[in-house]
Amino acid sequence: MYLVVLFAAALSASTFALDNGLMRTPPMGWLAWERFRCDIDCEHDPKNCISENLFIDMADRLSEDGWRELGYVLVSIDDCWSSMERDEEGRLQPDPKRFPGGIPKLARYMHDRGLKLGIYGDMGTHTCGGYPGTPLDKIKIDAQTFADWGVDVLKFDGCYSNSTEQEQGYPLMSKALNATGRPIGYSCSWPAYQGGLPPKVNYTQLGLICNLWRNYGDIQDSWDSVLNIVDWFFENQDVVAPAAGPGGWNDPDMLIVGDFGLSMDQSRSQMALWAIMAAPLFMSNDLRTISSGARSILQNQMAISINQDPMGIQGRRIVKENSGIDVFLRPLSNNASALVFFSRRKDMPYRYQTSLRKLNYPTGSYKIFNVFTEKTMMLKDSTDFVVSVNPTGVVMWYVSAPAKMNLHQFYRGARLRGSPYDEKDENNIPQLI
Ligand code: GLA
Repeated sequence: MYLVVLFAAALSASTFALDNGLMRTPPMGWLAWERFRCDIDCEHDPKNCISENLFIDMADRLSEDGWRELGYVLVSIDDCWSSMERDEEGRLQPDPKRFPGGIPKLARYMHDRGLKLGIYGDMGTHTCGGYPGTPLDKIKIDAQTFADWGVDVLKFDGCYSNSTEQEQGYPLMSKALNATGRPIGYSCSWPAYQGGLPPKVNYTQLGLICNLWRNYGDIQDSWDSVLNIVDWFFENQDVVAPAAGPGGWNDPDMLIVGDFGLSMDQSRSQMALWAIMAAPLFMSNDLRTISSGARSILQNQMAISINQDPMGIQGRRIVKENSGIDVFLRPLSNNASALVFFSRRKDMPYRYQTSLRKLNYPTGSYKIFNVFTEKTMMLKDSTDFVVSVNPTGVVMWYVSAPAKMNLHQFYRGARLRGSPYDEKDENNIPQLI
């Protein structure tokens, strides 16, 4: 039932998506902000300051360390890239010391390697970091400048603007980008500045003008922050999930896997839940020094392909147990689905017992692929199973479509007397780790 309802909801939403042909699946790549912030001290911190070298380093890592082939192709500049002054013709310009080659050089560097370049602007008088903004009268010229530079995505922030200006500015920038003739993905921070919920936020309109949108506050490098974001998105899932679909995505903010704040279990949880949410996968970490553990989580092919499912249906929480276990489900193409069992507990691995039938799966025999252990098994809807979920961790499954029941195998011996679908062998509960 869930599958059917979610499918119908997503179909209706996707018909309203922005029609610039971009981001038919959630965008993937790297974004500077959470890890590198507004570090502009290139004299003392040359490796980490916001400069062309940082973006070149990350582009090299994406193209040489197996990221690009997995879909991580966007390299995005965030705040603090520009000069404090516009040029003589009124255009934004990068800080000349930190970006001596200019933005077109960076765009070429990305394009030569099969990557894309993202940039950051703000529809108020100033960016959140205090750099020149793009108020209403500057929208056209800035859109044209970004297009002339060869930029592929614009993140348009909302600091130092009021709600009336935002109502005008966000649609205006969408039009201005389209008018340049260059396909430029458009990320809107608008809903995050209006509390993320109707009636102030109109998700139908957002889907028509933006390719993705930040709904909620900034992520920080901590588990508390991840959990706070997860709770907001799933508490409001009936509002936000139907808004997502090919061409338009909710953005719960960057992946912090590979930074300092998350354990390996928590890192798997962020990756799993971002995949369930059909969220953009923008890493904000240091790809030059990332640990092999974090890298293998971010490069998990099944987690990525769940995130990138072409139907683009955002998943939901379907169970919230008092024991501290939440279960999430995302319908996928080919009648498959993803399941995540998540533990909020702080004590020890929790043995959670349920069955696919209890999770509302139709009758049938399913092939289960455990996303992080890569083990497979067959499971009937009626069979109780136990998953052992680590504190603040997840167990994530890819569930294939039900195999055609081979009735032959059930009509043997004692089984002839009962319905094959009702049998439940209490002594043989499969244990999936
Ligand atoms: C806001 C945004 C962040 C980042 C900073 C930059 O806080 O939400 O993602 O872009 O501004 O100053």
